[in-house]
Amino acid sequence: MDRFIIDGGRRLKGAIKVSGSKNAALPILIATLLTDETCVVENVPSTLRDLRTTFRLLESLGKRVVVKGSTVRVLSTGSLKTQAPYEIVKQMRASVLAAGPLLARFGLVRVPIPGGCAIGLRPIDIHLKGFEIMGARRIADQGDIILSAPRLRPAAIALRFPSVGATQNLMMAAAATPGRTTIGNAAREPEMGDLGKFLEQLGAKVHGAGTAKVTIEGKAKLGGARHKVIPDRIEAGTFLLACAATRGRVKLVGAEAAHLGAVLSALKKAGAKIRSGKGWIELAMERRPKAVSIVTKPYPGFPTDLQAPWMALMTTCTGFAKVVETVFENRFLHAAELGRMGAQIAVSGRAAVVAGQERLSGAPIMASDIRAGAALLVAGLAAKGRTTIARVYHIDRGYEEIERKLSRAGARLARQK
Ligand code: EPZ
Repeated sequence: MDRFIIDGGRRLKGAIKVSGSKNAALPILIATLLTDETCVVENVPSTLRDLRTTFRLLESLGKRVVVKGSTVRVLSTGSLKTQAPYEIVKQMRASVLAAGPLLARFGLVRVPIPGGCAIGLRPIDIHLKGFEIMGARRIADQGDIILSAPRLRPAAIALRFPSVGATQNLMMAAAATPGRTTIGNAAREPEMGDLGKFLEQLGAKVHGAGTAKVTIEGKAKLGGARHKVIPDRIEAGTFLLACAATRGRVKLVGAEAAHLGAVLSALKKAGAKIRSGKGWIELAMERRPKAVSIVTKPYPGFPTDLQAPWMALMTTCTGFAKVVETVFENRFLHAAELGRMGAQIAVSGRAAVVAGQERLSGAPIMASDIRAGAALLVAGLAAKGRTTIARVYHIDRGYEEIERKLSRAGARLARQK
Protein backbone atom coordinates (compact mmCIF):
# COMPACT_ATOMS: atom_id res chain seq x y z
CA MET A 1 0.00 0.00 0.00
CA ASP A 2 1.33 3.42 -1.00
CA ARG A 3 2.68 5.88 1.55
CA PHE A 4 3.62 9.55 1.35
CA ILE A 5 7.00 10.62 2.65
CA ILE A 6 7.17 14.33 3.40
CA ASP A 7 10.17 16.41 4.38
CA GLY A 8 8.25 19.23 6.01
CA GLY A 9 8.90 22.84 6.84
CA ARG A 10 9.20 24.24 3.30
CA ARG A 11 7.02 27.18 2.28
CA LEU A 12 4.66 26.48 -0.62
CA LYS A 13 5.11 28.97 -3.44
CA GLY A 14 4.13 29.40 -7.07
CA ALA A 15 1.02 28.35 -8.96
CA ILE A 16 -1.20 25.31 -8.44
CA LYS A 17 -3.86 24.21 -10.91
CA VAL A 18 -7.20 23.20 -9.41
CA SER A 19 -9.03 20.21 -10.94
CA GLY A 20 -12.72 19.85 -11.72
CA SER A 21 -14.93 19.10 -8.73
CA LYS A 22 -15.15 15.45 -7.71
CA ASN A 23 -18.41 15.98 -5.87
CA ALA A 24 -19.99 17.82 -8.83
CA ALA A 25 -18.71 15.34 -11.43
CA LEU A 26 -20.06 12.25 -9.61
CA PRO A 27 -23.79 13.16 -9.68
CA ILE A 28 -23.50 14.68 -13.18
CA LEU A 29 -22.03 11.47 -14.58
CA ILE A 30 -24.68 9.43 -12.80
CA ALA A 31 -27.34 11.76 -14.27
CA THR A 32 -26.36 10.46 -17.73
CA LEU A 33 -28.52 7.45 -16.76
CA LEU A 34 -31.48 9.79 -17.42
CA THR A 35 -30.96 9.67 -21.19
CA ASP A 36 -30.08 7.33 -24.05
CA GLU A 37 -28.35 10.16 -25.92
CA THR A 38 -24.60 10.75 -25.74
CA CYS A 39 -23.34 13.09 -23.00
CA VAL A 40 -19.94 14.78 -22.93
CA VAL A 41 -18.69 15.95 -19.54
CA GLU A 42 -15.55 18.10 -19.41
CA ASN A 43 -13.19 19.08 -16.58
CA VAL A 44 -13.70 15.70 -14.85
CA PRO A 45 -10.90 14.67 -12.43
CA SER A 46 -10.92 11.33 -14.23
CA THR A 47 -7.85 9.80 -12.56
CA LEU A 48 -9.44 9.87 -9.08
CA ARG A 49 -10.41 6.58 -7.55
CA ASP A 50 -14.03 7.69 -6.98
CA LEU A 51 -14.36 8.68 -10.62
CA ARG A 52 -13.01 5.32 -11.78
CA THR A 53 -15.58 3.66 -9.53
CA THR A 54 -18.30 5.84 -11.10
CA PHE A 55 -17.23 4.76 -14.59
CA ARG A 56 -17.44 1.12 -13.47
CA LEU A 57 -20.88 1.77 -11.97
CA LEU A 58 -22.15 3.26 -15.24
CA GLU A 59 -20.69 0.39 -17.26
CA SER A 60 -22.20 -2.20 -14.92
CA LEU A 61 -25.59 -0.56 -15.55
CA GLY A 62 -25.17 -0.71 -19.34
CA LYS A 63 -23.44 2.55 -20.42
CA ARG A 64 -20.18 2.84 -22.32
CA VAL A 65 -17.70 5.32 -20.87
CA VAL A 66 -14.88 6.77 -22.98
CA VAL A 67 -12.30 8.81 -21.09
CA LYS A 68 -9.80 11.10 -22.78
CA GLY A 69 -7.90 13.20 -20.25
CA SER A 70 -10.51 15.19 -18.34
CA THR A 71 -13.22 14.72 -20.99
CA VAL A 72 -15.66 11.88 -20.46
CA ARG A 73 -18.17 10.67 -23.05
CA VAL A 74 -21.01 8.51 -21.83
CA LEU A 75 -22.80 6.52 -24.53
CA SER A 76 -25.73 4.17 -24.67
CA THR A 77 -25.19 0.49 -25.53
CA GLY A 78 -28.82 -0.63 -25.44
CA SER A 79 -31.08 -1.07 -22.46
CA LEU A 80 -30.00 -0.18 -18.93
CA LYS A 81 -30.02 -2.49 -15.92
CA THR A 82 -31.89 -1.38 -12.81
CA GLN A 83 -29.74 -3.11 -10.21
CA ALA A 84 -26.56 -1.52 -8.81
CA PRO A 85 -23.90 -4.07 -7.75
CA TYR A 86 -22.99 -4.20 -4.03
CA GLU A 87 -19.34 -4.66 -4.93
CA ILE A 88 -19.36 -1.09 -6.34
CA VAL A 89 -21.75 0.58 -3.85
CA LYS A 90 -19.66 -0.57 -0.89
CA GLN A 91 -16.64 1.18 -2.41
CA MET A 92 -18.46 4.42 -3.03
CA ARG A 93 -21.61 5.51 -1.21
CA ALA A 94 -22.49 8.05 -3.92
CA SER A 95 -23.50 5.04 -6.09
CA VAL A 96 -26.86 5.35 -4.34
CA LEU A 97 -27.48 8.36 -6.61
CA ALA A 98 -28.25 5.90 -9.41
CA ALA A 99 -31.58 5.19 -7.66
CA GLY A 100 -33.26 8.48 -8.65
CA PRO A 101 -32.68 8.35 -12.42
CA LEU A 102 -33.38 4.60 -12.75
CA LEU A 103 -36.53 4.69 -10.63
CA ALA A 104 -37.93 7.65 -12.54
CA ARG A 105 -37.20 6.10 -15.94
CA PHE A 106 -38.02 2.44 -15.39
CA GLY A 107 -40.33 2.39 -12.34
CA LEU A 108 -38.04 -0.05 -10.56
CA VAL A 109 -34.59 -0.02 -9.00
CA ARG A 110 -32.65 -2.24 -6.62
CA VAL A 111 -29.73 -0.66 -4.73
CA PRO A 112 -27.67 -1.99 -1.86
CA ILE A 113 -28.04 0.11 1.31
CA PRO A 114 -24.62 1.79 1.48
CA GLY A 115 -23.97 1.39 5.21
CA GLY A 116 -21.89 3.76 7.34
CA CYS A 117 -18.28 4.79 6.96
CA ALA A 118 -15.48 6.11 9.17
CA ILE A 119 -17.07 9.56 9.56
CA GLY A 120 -20.63 8.59 10.47
CA LEU A 121 -23.67 6.33 10.09
CA ARG A 122 -24.81 8.12 6.94
CA PRO A 123 -28.38 6.81 6.54
CA ILE A 124 -30.37 7.44 3.33
CA ASP A 125 -33.79 8.00 4.92
CA ILE A 126 -34.14 11.50 3.41
CA HIS A 127 -33.62 10.12 -0.12
CA LEU A 128 -36.16 7.34 0.49
CA LYS A 129 -38.76 9.62 2.07
CA GLY A 130 -38.56 11.88 -1.00
CA PHE A 131 -39.09 8.95 -3.38
CA GLU A 132 -42.08 7.86 -1.27
CA ILE A 133 -43.62 11.31 -1.53
CA MET A 134 -43.23 10.95 -5.31
CA GLY A 135 -45.24 7.72 -5.11
CA ALA A 136 -42.58 4.99 -4.78
CA ARG A 137 -43.07 1.90 -2.63
CA ARG A 138 -40.08 0.33 -0.98
CA ILE A 139 -39.13 -3.01 0.45
CA ALA A 140 -35.88 -4.11 2.03
CA ASP A 141 -34.40 -7.42 0.85
CA GLN A 142 -31.01 -8.99 1.56
CA GLY A 143 -29.34 -5.67 2.36
CA ASP A 144 -30.86 -4.01 -0.72
CA ILE A 145 -33.68 -1.50 -1.06
CA ILE A 146 -36.12 -2.18 -3.86
CA LEU A 147 -38.05 0.89 -4.97
CA SER A 148 -40.96 0.63 -7.35
CA ALA A 149 -43.60 2.91 -8.82
CA PRO A 150 -45.41 2.32 -12.10
CA ARG A 151 -44.84 6.04 -12.64
CA LEU A 152 -43.37 8.60 -10.24
CA ARG A 153 -45.56 11.67 -9.76
CA PRO A 154 -44.37 15.24 -9.37
CA ALA A 155 -44.61 16.43 -5.77
CA ALA A 156 -43.79 19.12 -3.21
CA ILE A 157 -41.07 17.67 -1.00
CA ALA A 158 -39.60 19.29 2.13
CA LEU A 159 -36.36 17.76 3.39
CA ARG A 160 -35.87 17.42 7.18
CA PHE A 161 -32.18 18.33 6.62
CA PRO A 162 -30.55 19.84 3.49
CA SER A 163 -28.79 16.61 2.51
CA VAL A 164 -26.51 16.98 -0.50
CA GLY A 165 -27.08 13.44 -1.79
CA ALA A 166 -30.85 13.46 -1.21
CA THR A 167 -31.24 16.80 -3.01
CA GLN A 168 -29.28 15.43 -5.99
CA ASN A 169 -31.13 12.11 -6.07
CA LEU A 170 -34.51 13.86 -6.00
CA MET A 171 -33.48 16.49 -8.56
CA MET A 172 -32.55 13.68 -10.95
CA ALA A 173 -35.77 11.74 -10.30
CA ALA A 174 -37.79 14.92 -10.83
CA ALA A 175 -36.03 15.68 -14.13
CA ALA A 176 -37.44 12.48 -15.66
CA THR A 177 -40.90 12.85 -14.07
CA PRO A 178 -43.29 14.94 -16.19
CA GLY A 179 -44.78 17.84 -14.19
CA ARG A 180 -43.49 20.23 -11.55
CA THR A 181 -41.61 18.99 -8.47
CA THR A 182 -40.37 21.31 -5.74
CA ILE A 183 -37.72 20.46 -3.18
CA GLY A 184 -37.82 22.63 -0.06
CA ASN A 185 -34.96 22.94 2.47
CA ALA A 186 -32.73 21.74 -0.37
CA ALA A 187 -28.94 21.65 -0.11
CA ARG A 188 -27.37 24.88 -1.40
CA GLU A 189 -23.85 23.67 -2.22
CA PRO A 190 -22.48 24.92 -5.59
CA GLU A 191 -22.56 21.28 -6.78
CA MET A 192 -26.42 21.56 -6.81
CA GLY A 193 -26.22 24.49 -9.22
CA ASP A 194 -23.88 22.51 -11.48
CA LEU A 195 -26.19 19.49 -11.51
CA GLY A 196 -29.13 21.84 -12.21
CA LYS A 197 -27.31 23.21 -15.28
CA PHE A 198 -26.63 19.69 -16.55
CA LEU A 199 -30.29 18.67 -16.09
CA GLU A 200 -31.30 21.77 -18.06
CA GLN A 201 -28.95 20.72 -20.85
CA LEU A 202 -30.72 17.35 -20.87
CA GLY A 203 -34.00 19.18 -21.39
CA ALA A 204 -35.59 19.57 -17.93
CA LYS A 205 -36.55 23.04 -16.66
CA VAL A 206 -34.74 23.84 -13.42
CA HIS A 207 -35.13 26.90 -11.22
CA GLY A 208 -33.36 27.68 -7.98
CA ALA A 209 -30.74 24.89 -8.00
CA GLY A 210 -28.23 25.97 -5.35
CA THR A 211 -30.93 27.75 -3.31
CA ALA A 212 -33.16 26.33 -0.56
CA LYS A 213 -36.06 25.85 -3.00
CA VAL A 214 -35.52 23.99 -6.25
CA THR A 215 -38.28 23.67 -8.83
CA ILE A 216 -37.96 21.14 -11.61
CA GLU A 217 -40.26 20.59 -14.54
CA GLY A 218 -39.45 17.13 -15.71
CA LYS A 219 -39.90 15.43 -19.08
CA ALA A 220 -40.53 11.77 -19.93
CA LYS A 221 -37.73 11.80 -22.52
CA LEU A 222 -34.50 13.68 -22.04
CA GLY A 223 -31.76 14.37 -24.60
CA GLY A 224 -27.97 14.56 -24.70
CA ALA A 225 -25.71 17.21 -23.18
CA ARG A 226 -22.27 18.78 -23.14
CA HIS A 227 -21.17 20.28 -19.85
CA LYS A 228 -18.05 21.59 -18.09
CA VAL A 229 -17.79 20.73 -14.38
CA ILE A 230 -17.10 23.54 -11.85
CA PRO A 231 -13.71 23.75 -10.09
CA ASP A 232 -13.17 21.66 -6.96
CA ARG A 233 -13.71 24.04 -4.04
CA ILE A 234 -12.54 21.47 -1.47
CA GLU A 235 -9.30 20.74 -3.32
CA ALA A 236 -8.77 24.51 -3.68
CA GLY A 237 -9.49 25.03 0.03
CA THR A 238 -7.04 22.28 0.98
CA PHE A 239 -4.26 23.95 -1.04
CA LEU A 240 -5.01 27.33 0.57
CA LEU A 241 -4.81 25.80 4.03
CA ALA A 242 -1.60 23.95 3.18
CA CYS A 243 -0.12 27.21 1.92
CA ALA A 244 -1.18 29.09 5.07
CA ALA A 245 0.22 26.34 7.31
CA THR A 246 3.62 26.51 5.57
CA ARG A 247 3.51 30.32 5.63
CA GLY A 248 3.84 30.39 1.88
CA ARG A 249 2.44 32.27 -1.09
CA VAL A 250 0.53 30.51 -3.85
CA LYS A 251 -1.80 31.33 -6.68
CA LEU A 252 -4.54 28.82 -7.41
CA VAL A 253 -5.42 28.72 -11.07
CA GLY A 254 -8.88 27.57 -12.14
CA ALA A 255 -10.38 28.22 -8.67
CA GLU A 256 -13.68 29.93 -7.86
CA ALA A 257 -13.47 32.32 -4.86
CA ALA A 258 -17.26 32.74 -4.72
CA HIS A 259 -17.61 29.06 -3.69
CA LEU A 260 -15.23 29.46 -0.73
CA GLY A 261 -16.73 32.45 1.10
CA ALA A 262 -16.73 31.01 4.66
CA VAL A 263 -13.23 29.56 4.28
CA LEU A 264 -11.67 32.71 2.81
CA SER A 265 -13.21 34.82 5.55
CA ALA A 266 -11.84 32.48 8.28
CA LEU A 267 -8.41 32.54 6.59
CA LYS A 268 -8.42 36.35 6.51
CA LYS A 269 -9.27 36.45 10.23
CA ALA A 270 -6.34 34.07 10.81
CA GLY A 271 -4.05 36.63 9.15
CA ALA A 272 -3.83 35.47 5.53
CA LYS A 273 -3.68 38.03 2.75
CA ILE A 274 -6.02 36.97 -0.02
CA ARG A 275 -6.71 38.36 -3.46
CA SER A 276 -8.93 36.82 -6.08
CA GLY A 277 -10.19 37.39 -9.59
CA LYS A 278 -11.96 35.50 -12.33
CA GLY A 279 -10.68 31.92 -12.07
CA TRP A 280 -7.88 32.53 -9.53
CA ILE A 281 -7.21 32.96 -5.81
CA GLU A 282 -3.89 34.10 -4.33
CA LEU A 283 -2.95 33.59 -0.69
CA ALA A 284 0.05 34.79 1.28
CA MET A 285 0.66 34.03 4.94
CA GLU A 286 3.59 35.64 6.65
CA ARG A 287 3.29 34.65 10.30
CA ARG A 288 1.74 32.18 12.71
CA PRO A 289 -2.03 32.02 12.21
CA LYS A 290 -4.28 33.69 14.78
CA ALA A 291 -6.78 31.36 16.45
CA VAL A 292 -10.10 31.31 14.59
CA SER A 293 -12.94 29.09 15.80
CA ILE A 294 -15.25 27.50 13.24
CA VAL A 295 -18.52 25.57 13.19
CA THR A 296 -19.22 23.35 10.18
CA LYS A 297 -22.60 23.84 8.55
CA PRO A 298 -24.29 23.03 5.26
CA TYR A 299 -23.33 25.55 2.53
CA PRO A 300 -22.88 28.52 2.70
CA GLY A 301 -21.48 27.67 6.16
CA PHE A 302 -17.95 26.40 6.76
CA PRO A 303 -17.68 23.08 4.84
CA THR A 304 -17.32 19.88 6.86
CA ASP A 305 -14.91 18.66 4.15
CA LEU A 306 -12.40 21.35 5.21
CA GLN A 307 -12.85 20.94 8.96
CA ALA A 308 -9.95 18.49 9.30
CA PRO A 309 -7.47 20.58 7.24
CA TRP A 310 -8.61 23.67 9.21
CA MET A 311 -7.80 21.89 12.45
CA ALA A 312 -4.36 21.04 11.06
CA LEU A 313 -3.77 24.76 10.36
CA MET A 314 -4.95 25.72 13.84
CA THR A 315 -2.42 23.40 15.54
CA THR A 316 0.12 26.20 15.11
CA CYS A 317 -2.17 29.15 15.87
CA THR A 318 -1.52 31.73 18.59
CA GLY A 319 -4.12 30.94 21.26
CA PHE A 320 -7.01 28.46 21.37
CA ALA A 321 -9.32 27.60 18.49
CA LYS A 322 -12.59 25.72 18.85
CA VAL A 323 -13.75 23.48 16.03
CA VAL A 324 -17.36 22.24 16.11
CA GLU A 325 -18.54 19.56 13.65
CA THR A 326 -22.32 19.60 13.17
CA VAL A 327 -22.70 17.70 9.87
CA PHE A 328 -21.14 14.29 10.62
CA GLU A 329 -21.14 12.61 14.04
CA ASN A 330 -17.63 11.11 13.96
CA ARG A 331 -15.35 13.35 11.97
CA PHE A 332 -12.45 13.92 14.39
CA LEU A 333 -10.35 10.83 13.65
CA HIS A 334 -7.50 13.07 12.47
CA ALA A 335 -7.17 14.67 15.94
CA ALA A 336 -5.35 11.67 17.41
CA GLU A 337 -3.00 11.43 14.42
CA LEU A 338 -2.21 15.15 14.70
CA GLY A 339 -1.55 14.44 18.38
CA ARG A 340 1.23 12.04 17.29
CA MET A 341 2.86 15.09 15.68
CA GLY A 342 2.71 16.97 18.96
CA ALA A 343 -0.59 18.82 18.44
CA GLN A 344 -2.62 19.61 21.54
CA ILE A 345 -6.26 18.89 20.81
CA ALA A 346 -9.00 18.07 23.33
CA VAL A 347 -12.06 16.43 21.80
CA SER A 348 -15.42 16.28 23.55
CA GLY A 349 -18.34 15.00 21.50
CA ARG A 350 -18.73 17.20 18.44
CA ALA A 351 -16.36 19.92 19.69
CA ALA A 352 -12.57 20.06 19.71
CA VAL A 353 -10.33 22.70 21.24
CA VAL A 354 -6.91 23.18 19.73
CA ALA A 355 -4.16 24.81 21.77
CA GLY A 356 -1.81 26.25 19.17
CA GLN A 357 1.93 25.95 19.42
CA GLU A 358 4.99 27.08 17.52
CA ARG A 359 5.44 23.99 15.35
CA LEU A 360 4.49 20.33 14.92
CA SER A 361 7.13 17.68 14.44
CA GLY A 362 7.03 14.98 11.76
CA ALA A 363 5.84 11.47 12.64
CA PRO A 364 4.54 8.25 11.07
CA ILE A 365 0.76 8.72 10.82
CA MET A 366 -2.24 7.18 9.08
CA ALA A 367 -5.14 8.57 7.01
CA SER A 368 -8.65 7.40 7.95
CA ASP A 369 -10.76 9.15 5.25
CA ILE A 370 -10.19 11.56 2.38
CA ARG A 371 -10.25 14.81 4.31
CA ALA A 372 -8.56 13.44 7.44
CA GLY A 373 -5.82 12.43 5.00
CA ALA A 374 -5.76 15.98 3.61
CA ALA A 375 -5.35 17.33 7.15
CA LEU A 376 -2.34 15.09 7.72
CA LEU A 377 -0.81 16.34 4.48
CA VAL A 378 -1.29 19.96 5.58
CA ALA A 379 0.28 19.16 8.96
CA GLY A 380 3.14 17.14 7.43
CA LEU A 381 4.04 19.88 4.94
CA ALA A 382 4.29 22.44 7.76
CA ALA A 383 5.93 20.24 10.41
CA LYS A 384 9.61 20.05 11.21
CA GLY A 385 11.26 16.86 9.94
CA ARG A 386 9.92 13.78 8.22
CA THR A 387 6.29 12.64 8.16
CA THR A 388 5.15 9.33 6.70
CA ILE A 389 1.46 9.03 5.85
CA ALA A 390 0.06 5.51 5.49
CA ARG A 391 -3.26 4.56 3.80
CA VAL A 392 -2.79 7.12 1.06
CA TYR A 393 -5.59 5.41 -0.90
CA HIS A 394 -8.01 7.56 1.12
CA ILE A 395 -6.32 10.73 -0.20
CA ASP A 396 -6.32 9.29 -3.75
CA ARG A 397 -10.13 9.20 -3.67
CA GLY A 398 -10.31 12.98 -3.73
CA TYR A 399 -7.03 14.62 -4.79
CA GLU A 400 -5.75 14.28 -8.34
CA GLU A 401 -1.96 14.05 -8.79
CA ILE A 402 -1.51 15.69 -5.43
CA GLU A 403 2.17 14.86 -5.01
CA ARG A 404 2.97 16.34 -8.42
CA LYS A 405 0.91 19.50 -7.77
CA LEU A 406 2.44 20.10 -4.34
CA SER A 407 6.00 19.24 -5.43
CA ARG A 408 5.75 21.81 -8.20
CA ALA A 409 4.86 24.35 -5.51
CA GLY A 410 8.02 23.56 -3.59
CA ALA A 411 6.95 20.72 -1.28
CA ARG A 412 9.22 17.74 -0.68
CA LEU A 413 6.66 14.99 -1.03
CA ALA A 414 7.16 11.55 -2.55
CA ARG A 415 4.99 8.50 -2.98
CA GLN A 416 6.48 5.22 -1.83
CA LYS A 417 4.86 2.21 -3.50
C1 EPZ B 1 -21.78 14.86 0.32
O1 EPZ B 1 -22.05 13.64 1.00
C2 EPZ B 1 -20.34 14.80 -0.10
N1 EPZ B 1 -20.14 13.65 -0.97
C3 EPZ B 1 -19.45 14.69 1.13
O2 EPZ B 1 -18.11 14.73 0.71
C4 EPZ B 1 -19.73 15.90 2.04
O3 EPZ B 1 -18.98 15.75 3.24
C5 EPZ B 1 -21.21 15.98 2.37
O4 EPZ B 1 -21.99 16.00 1.14
C6 EPZ B 1 -21.59 17.21 3.18
O5 EPZ B 1 -21.18 18.37 2.53
C7 EPZ B 1 -20.40 13.76 -2.27
O6 EPZ B 1 -20.81 14.80 -2.78
C8 EPZ B 1 -20.14 12.57 -3.12
P1 EPZ B 1 -25.29 14.60 3.12
P2 EPZ B 1 -23.57 13.21 1.32
O7 EPZ B 1 -26.35 13.72 2.57
O8 EPZ B 1 -24.41 13.53 0.16
C9 EPZ B 1 -27.11 12.95 7.22
C10 EPZ B 1 -15.90 14.11 0.69
O9 EPZ B 1 -15.05 14.22 1.60
N2 EPZ B 1 -28.13 12.31 6.37
O10 EPZ B 1 -25.46 16.08 2.99
O11 EPZ B 1 -23.52 11.82 1.81
C11 EPZ B 1 -25.75 12.26 7.06
O12 EPZ B 1 -25.66 11.10 7.85
C12 EPZ B 1 -17.28 13.60 1.00
O13 EPZ B 1 -15.67 14.40 -0.50
C13 EPZ B 1 -29.18 11.63 6.94
O14 EPZ B 1 -29.33 11.58 8.19
O15 EPZ B 1 -23.87 14.20 2.51
C14 EPZ B 1 -24.80 13.36 7.47
O16 EPZ B 1 -24.66 13.39 8.86
C15 EPZ B 1 -17.36 12.99 2.36
N3 EPZ B 1 -30.10 11.01 6.13
C16 EPZ B 1 -25.50 14.63 6.99
O17 EPZ B 1 -26.88 14.28 6.81
C17 EPZ B 1 -30.00 11.06 4.77
O18 EPZ B 1 -30.87 10.48 4.07
C18 EPZ B 1 -24.96 15.20 5.67
O19 EPZ B 1 -25.09 14.22 4.64
C19 EPZ B 1 -28.92 11.75 4.18
C20 EPZ B 1 -27.99 12.37 5.00
